[in-house]
Amino acid sequence: MSAQPELVVDNIGKTFESAAGSVKAIDRIDISAKAGEFISVLGPSGCGKTTLLRMIGGLERPTQGDVSIAGHSVWKSRGGEAVRSLAFAFQDSRLFPWFSIEDNIALPLRLRGEPKEKRLARARELCALVGLQGFEKAQPRQLSGGMRQRVSLARALAIDPRLVLLDEPFGALDAMTRDQMNLELQRICKATGATVLLITHSISEAVFLGDKVVVLSPRPSHVHAVHEVNLPRPRTIAMQETSEFQQLVRAIRSDIAGYPA
Ligand SMILES: Nc1ncnc2c1ncn2[C@@H]1O[C@H](COP(=O)(O)OP(=O)(O)OP(=O)(O)O)[C@@H](O)[C@H]1O
Ligand SMILES: [Mg+2]
Repeated sequence: MSAQPELVVDNIGKTFESAAGSVKAIDRIDISAKAGEFISVLGPSGCGKTTLLRMIGGLERPTQGDVSIAGHSVWKSRGGEAVRSLAFAFQDSRLFPWFSIEDNIALPLRLRGEPKEKRLARARELCALVGLQGFEKAQPRQLSGGMRQRVSLARALAIDPRLVLLDEPFGALDAMTRDQMNLELQRICKATGATVLLITHSISEAVFLGDKVVVLSPRPSHVHAVHEVNLPRPRTIAMQETSEFQQLVRAIRSDIAGYPA
């Protein structure tokens, strides 16, 4: 692990201007993550979490501050070096319904101009990594919601990203499938070594997966609290019953209850 943080979100802020007026979504957010670290971000609806992810990913220009990934500025340098090695996955899986599973997973590689043989070989590897062997030729409509989220995750991993940005990827899943996906995500993160920023509305999911849990305030948001999660890895579902786990969940819940009115 290098001394330089992998991800630095530095004094970032965003005000949206439109004909209807201006909306200050994010007042100021600072976050830093070491390589391979897993950061969970919690915050009330509308506080700017998706906007934050889009600013980290080079999709939405901040009105203040900057982001750097592996020492490269996202907003102050040209050439897109910083964002070349990051990937997104969202709440809805956003698969192309008329593509097979392997073609969906291989799409980022096709966009990069990789030859067909190479990208299909990689898609098959990724199918195995996310537990979808045998479904390579299936269509998205033949898969369950949880399986589609796995495809979405596999597609995000296709480019071997250093940084993975996840915007409530499991929000639409039932509790049992979600536990399963959390275990899978933990295993995949270990296998890939990627740095991950996960946005979630679930306090227990944030604690279960995170090395750190960042709690944002209501809009215009700032970092309200940061909790280190020192539970051993790999985390297990049974760990959620331990007093350490529950204490953390309670502490975070009381942070959220302590928002200014
Ligand atoms: N393109 C835009 N133009 C104007 N306002 C926007 C735009 N995108 C987001 N906003 C506003 O910025 C604020 C933050 O939105 P954002 O989607 O980032 O919130 P969020 O924390 O992801 O919410 P949720 O938890 O519901 O997904 C909201 O008030 C929203 O209306
Ligand atoms: Mg959002």
